Amino acid sequence: MQHAILRGAAASALLCLAAGASAADKIKVGFMLPYSGTYAALGNAIENGFKLYVAEQGGKLGGREIEYFKVDDESNPAKASENANRLIKRDQVDVLVGTVHSGVAMALAKAAKDSNTTLIVPNAGADAITGPMCGPGIFRTSFTNWQPAYAMGPVAAARGHKTAITVTWKYAAGDEAVNGFQEGFEKAGGKVRKHLNVPFPNVEFQSLLTEIAASKPDMVFAFFAGGGAVKFVQDYHAAGLGKTIPLYGSGFLTDGTLKAQGDSAQGLLTTLHYADGLNTPRDNTFRAAYDKAYGMPPDVYAVQGYDAAQMMQAGLAAVKGDIGKKDDFRKAMRGATIDSPRGSFTLSAAGNPVQDIYLRKVNGLDNLVQEVAARKLADPARGCRL
Ligand code: PHB
Repeated sequence: MQHAILRGAAASALLCLAAGASAADKIKVGFMLPYSGTYAALGNAIENGFKLYVAEQGGKLGGREIEYFKVDDESNPAKASENANRLIKRDQVDVLVGTVHSGVAMALAKAAKDSNTTLIVPNAGADAITGPMCGPGIFRTSFTNWQPAYAMGPVAAARGHKTAITVTWKYAAGDEAVNGFQEGFEKAGGKVRKHLNVPFPNVEFQSLLTEIAASKPDMVFAFFAGGGAVKFVQDYHAAGLGKTIPLYGSGFLTDGTLKAQGDSAQGLLTTLHYADGLNTPRDNTFRAAYDKAYGMPPDVYAVQGYDAAQMMQAGLAAVKGDIGKKDDFRKAMRGATIDSPRGSFTLSAAGNPVQDIYLRKVNGLDNLVQEVAARKLADPARGCRL
């Protein structure tokens, strides 16, 4: 008799496992982020932001505890599939959160789709992820490379600039950012004369600066981020170019970098979906909590990580923590309004934020908001079929 009961209990435990993990199990989140190299600070800020939101929920999302798995992707596309599969196959994570670098993120998105694992991209802007690669399990809490760059086009034209040179790293994010800027700038009557670039993550900028000085465009538009952005802004300033040829960029050029850039960044205008000085109750609360937890102010990357956790919470609340209900979990995430420190946003059908893009100006250690450059800007999601 006892045996029969035991057998019954074992059988129902097995059934339970077959049906999916029980409510007592932790939900596995896999961070695939750069923890070394030029984007290391970005990866850390994303993780910090994510964990801050989870801590604010008492360490749980949808009533379930969270277990973290981590891989340093080194912003290296050559290792991306292998790294993604560590989290997917070895660790069997429920949700992937990654990454920063667009080339790595495209391989990650492919691995996520192939294995039907839910992916939340907390930075990488590769247009393709919410374009041709879009899918029901693919989400982004950040931007497409097109979004902030496109918004700078009309801003620069309105300031009287007629000609521009662009400069960036030669990879998806750089190419898409400068193309986005060109589209916005030329629609508004400007002309991009030339696209200059260096391989990622090189920081030897002298020959580019010489070429810019010689060809004297009205302005320069740049996409760099992290350690590379620090060096580019410093070099541009040291070459004395800022006085005659103003430098603009997607806001990554000056986000999370101002302490290191110091004087060289003062006065720079950039466009981004986050800014300092928003002064909303939501952002003020977030900033105070982040500063308290980590002893530094948050940047755009921290916000994107925080919002990735908020998005998961929205999905898990809808299924009462039962992440096995994949379709309902995903539907709830796609339909959520995220109460972001940047201002609340919704997702497009392709899974990318529809959001305001701010014009910011560097003042001391802040990228101070000036105005909304583009309201509720949606990426065109070219090539996405759902
Ligand atoms: C990207 O590779 O998509 C990327 C990297 C760093 C940024 C923004 C975009 O700050």
